[in-house]
Order: sequence, then structure tokens, then C-alpha cells
Amino acid sequence: MSDIKIKITDREGVSHEIDAPTDMNMNLMEVVRSYELAPEGTIGICGGMAMCASCQCYIKSEHELPEKSDDEEAMLAEAFYVKDNSRLGCQIHMSEDLDGLEVALAPAEP
Ligand code: FES
Repeated sequence: MSDIKIKITDREGVSHEIDAPTDMNMNLMEVVRSYELAPEGTIGICGGMAMCASCQCYIKSEHELPEKSDDEEAMLAEAFYVKDNSRLGCQIHMSEDLDGLEVALAPAEP
């Protein structure tokens, strides 16, 4: 199976182009963690349950993403630094149609 290329801007503003596998059932939050693009303990705090917003990111490319679930909408309604293009990384599953995705990590919650 193929990897896809994703561009991730970390919280320091540094951009990383990384390969993400599409056959390991990973989500974007897990990809960020596996490449250690955010310090341990600052991302993925709820384990990917759409309950913490520590994985919030801004979608910078024009990809069609699956609709937000009610849980994701509710969490983003309460989170800090939310913009129109905010999504929870843990709710974005790596698939081939996301090749070329560009995202920026939102700041850590205060
Ligand atoms: S890891 Fe907690 S909402 Fe995504």
C-alpha cells in the first residue's frame, strides 16, 4: 500500500513534509505524534476521542474532508483558537485522497 505526502506546520511555524501510511488505520493526530512534531503530552491527550481539542489543526489545502461528527463540532465549539478551517486531527483518518494535505497545528491550549 502507498504512503501519502502531508505537509504539517508545527507550533513553532516550522513546516515538515512527511510520509503517512494509509494502511495502518492512523489518524492525523497519531501521525503528528509518530513524527514527534509536538511535545509529548501536548497532543492527543484524550487518546483520539474528540474530547480534548489538543489535536486541533487548521486545514490549509483545499481537500474535501469528511463532515465533522457531532462530537467534533461540540468540542470545537468549546476549544480555544478555533478558526473556520479548524478540525480535530484525531478525527481525520489517513486515506489516499488526502495526498498533498497541508495543515498547521493550532497552538497548545492555555
Ligand atoms: S486527541 Fe483529543 S480531541 Fe483529538
